[in-house]
Amino acid sequence: MMDLILRGATLPDGRTGQDIACRDGKIVEVAQGIAAEAAQEIDATGRLVTPPFVDSHFHMDATLTFGFPRVNESGTLLEGIQLWSELKPHLKIDEVKKRAHEICRWAIAQGTLAIRTHVDVCDPDLIAVEALLEVREEIKPYLDLQLVAFPQDGYLRYPRCDELLNRALDKGVDVVGGIPHFERTMADGAASVRALCEIATERGLMVDMHCDETDDPMSRHVETLAFETQRLGLAGRVTGSHLTSMHSMDNYYVSKLLPLIAEAGLHAVANPNINITIQGRHDTYPKRRGLTRVKELLEHGVNVALGQDCVMDPWYSLGHYEMLDVASMAVHVGQMTGIHQMKQMFAAVTENGAKALNLEGYGLEVGCNADLVVLQAGDPVEAIRLKPARLFVVRRGRVIAETPPVVSTVRLENETTPVDFTRLTKS
Ligand code: FE2
Repeated sequence: MMDLILRGATLPDGRTGQDIACRDGKIVEVAQGIAAEAAQEIDATGRLVTPPFVDSHFHMDATLTFGFPRVNESGTLLEGIQLWSELKPHLKIDEVKKRAHEICRWAIAQGTLAIRTHVDVCDPDLIAVEALLEVREEIKPYLDLQLVAFPQDGYLRYPRCDELLNRALDKGVDVVGGIPHFERTMADGAASVRALCEIATERGLMVDMHCDETDDPMSRHVETLAFETQRLGLAGRVTGSHLTSMHSMDNYYVSKLLPLIAEAGLHAVANPNINITIQGRHDTYPKRRGLTRVKELLEHGVNVALGQDCVMDPWYSLGHYEMLDVASMAVHVGQMTGIHQMKQMFAAVTENGAKALNLEGYGLEVGCNADLVVLQAGDPVEAIRLKPARLFVVRRGRVIAETPPVVSTVRLENETTPVDFTRLTKS
């Protein structure tokens, strides 16, 4: 007897008519026409069933604060950082937790069951760290939350930041962060990358740095990050986030850089909604898009994942935790409209994110965690096109969120027709 069987699913790799049987929180069989019975069955005929969405880059301490104490008028990264520093003294543990739990519920409703969030450690009281460590434990049955110790105001630039960052790691923050382009000089930026990678090595932790989030083509800290990753034997455990300066770099230099990133085994995370909004703000026309070279990184064999980065915070006033909106933005801004490329962007918000976060038990293989999302769409490309309802969100074999199919009824003269924008409406 199984706990749950999904019937007739289409999988992201294109297999159709698949049953997925779950028992004791794990996937125990994936095949056509599984004979076993289950306590609960879900008819997923023709529906895309995917492992959960993964948000590889977020700021949960700042989310849902939009408008407090004021709005970012210039829309720039630097005004956002200034605004956040005005907001920080007002943070209270209970209030941060309340917002964090609310955004986790949004994420769960959207089938996003793993989030890597940066948490600002440039606060003598580490309020956000304390709050999100509690949230990480409280939400664990439903969602995997990874915390990155993020020195928002600069590891070398902010007073006593080394002490604060280490204290956050001592308390149990999972990953070492950084922001080399925000240090006072290029040399300090490189020194911060080196120091932070060494801390991660000593502690056996992963690294995820905001790296070169600027339009300055000379911001080349990713080169140092790749070098340190290789020097310290951290391949597969280090992520360069944003990497927007690569958009503006000289092509000749990039032709050297891409193989170095690939060779080092660095993961790349782009945040298309935020990059397109924040970068190029000093340009007149033409305006740079600021998205890193996603297509070219993938062509060089680099694992590229995508992040939401912001929802209603000092940097971004929109968002409702829709990772398919993020994938769709990457498709558009990165001009990745080929079928294979669109599938790659679906992977960038699912399996590639799991790889960057080093998640265990992720996937649709037998033995993986029974964490699944049933979409009101037939395949990954349709999912990106429609950003469809998450009909069922399953965690460890149990349904934790449900949305009824979204169907319009069109009444013309002689006929009444359901429309759900799938190729063949079946709802
Ligand atoms: Fe970020």
